[in-house]
Amino acid sequence: MDPEEKLTELENRNRAAEAGGGPERTARQHQAGKMSARERIDLLLDEGSFSELDKLVIHSCRDFGMEQKQIPGDGFVTGYGRIDGRLVYVFAHDFTVFGGSLSLENAAKVCKVMDLAMKMGAPIIGLNDSGGARIQEGVASLAGYADIFLRNTLASGVVPQISAIMGPCAGGAVYSPAITDFTFMVDQTSYMFVTGPDVIKTVTHEDVTKEQLGGARTHNEVSGVAQFIAPRDEECLRMIRELVSFLPSNNRDDGPVRTSSDPDDRTEVELDSIVPLKSDQPYDIKQIIRRVIDDGYFFEIQEHFARNIVIGFARLDGRTVGLVANQPEVLAGCLDIDGSVKGARFVRFCDAFGIPIVTFEDVPGFLPGTAQEFGGIIKHGAKLLYAYAEATVPKITVITRKAYGGAYCVMGSKHVRTDINYAYPTAEIAVMGPEGAVNILYRREIAEADDKSREFRETKIEEFRERFANPYIAAEKGWIDEVIQPRDTRPKLIAALRMLETKADTMPRKKHGNIPL
Ligand code: HXC
Repeated sequence: MDPEEKLTELENRNRAAEAGGGPERTARQHQAGKMSARERIDLLLDEGSFSELDKLVIHSCRDFGMEQKQIPGDGFVTGYGRIDGRLVYVFAHDFTVFGGSLSLENAAKVCKVMDLAMKMGAPIIGLNDSGGARIQEGVASLAGYADIFLRNTLASGVVPQISAIMGPCAGGAVYSPAITDFTFMVDQTSYMFVTGPDVIKTVTHEDVTKEQLGGARTHNEVSGVAQFIAPRDEECLRMIRELVSFLPSNNRDDGPVRTSSDPDDRTEVELDSIVPLKSDQPYDIKQIIRRVIDDGYFFEIQEHFARNIVIGFARLDGRTVGLVANQPEVLAGCLDIDGSVKGARFVRFCDAFGIPIVTFEDVPGFLPGTAQEFGGIIKHGAKLLYAYAEATVPKITVITRKAYGGAYCVMGSKHVRTDINYAYPTAEIAVMGPEGAVNILYRREIAEADDKSREFRETKIEEFRERFANPYIAAEKGWIDEVIQPRDTRPKLIAALRMLETKADTMPRKKHGNIPL
């Protein structure tokens, strides 16, 4: 072979890898409204920044005629590149090659980029579009999956892990995205389930479509398995870039700083009148959040699930903060099972990656009812408590209105080692609301239900309101550091965050805790 032939051979091999399953299957992929693996990577990363690895890997299966079917790359595109100039690792299933199914060899490609991501301390992003374990390979493919699951677990809390579901993701394959920190799904073209509609029909006789069972809406609104829904591939990839812009590259990195022209001493008079004086009147907590953060820009996470609690990233003073807020507009802001789990996982992510947590609290308590009690609100609520208590990152809480009962303790109270606790003058900190308290303490006196007892009840409620429905008892004890004018929230938060920049707090020595799962 002369040198030119050698160059041609390399070119041919590369071209074969780039062609994947060929033009027909690629056309089918496009017709289904999906981009190809390479198109996705190109759009995800900064232009021209992708370096591919293992482009020529082939499978070693010799059953079912597989030895005749070899496509270089073997159905996965893997490598590294940049997002906003910052290093990330990426792998993408190529559905045009054996349905993007996982073989022993292409699993090793994924493991290689995961190992590099761990050594270099950079996020890993997986673009899933796959028929699952390569059926012809049997246990070899299962071994490949397990190798990936192990790495997902070891990488958890070390580098951010992001999954996008951009096609099928079924069977045990779902457990890699499930361990990662954030899961995106594309509306109508993606689905995730452990067992599909046919198996369900056989076992439970339920009729359900793939979309109903595991579509993007199901996992964003009902199960909470996914955190983001995108209308199309393009939007999904843009959203991933945006998420990455908020994240540190690893658990030792200070995180990106984006300078903003939003003044750090900006006060907002409108904040003084957002919380209604009547304590049972709803309002949108995001109206407060947006007026406080840099440029009013809030990147919400799990927007469609457990809407009684709001979580997401924003910037204050150019730095990323994790926001957790009760939403009085939904279930009056009560904590329920879904809301507690949603909040807890987010608090733990922020803590693992050194992101300060700012909490806006307006919570009348845990949601009452048999559904909640039978569902285990005790252990699920405890997750949120545990997450706040173990978090050692800077923690600041602002009580805007209600902080009742156990929920007061849980939502970043001073007692779970929150650094700075603010309260608005509208704050009400008590064991329960005045009505509930009076109904219990004066049950006998108000049982008559006549005018006199009604009057008595009203008087007592007023007495309770005056005594407890304010932030001053807690402030007198030092559990509220400062009662602030709502208009000053932004400058107060920024001053506190700057003060907390050098915070160092620790956990007792242990292998790991035992969070109530
Ligand atoms: C090998 C596969 C495959 C697989 C699909 N293909 N899945 N090859 N192993 N798991 C191939 C098909 O043979 C076909 O090849 C091409 O991919 C496209 O598949 P189609 O069926 O034509 O596409 P579509 O109609 O879009 O249907 C996609 C699909 C379906 C719903 C994903 O292919 C399917 O049901 N596949 C099997 C899914 C499954 O049960 N996987 C195992 C899950 S359990 P050609 O050559 O015709 O293009 C699992 C365990 C993991 O994954 C355990 C981890 C612990």
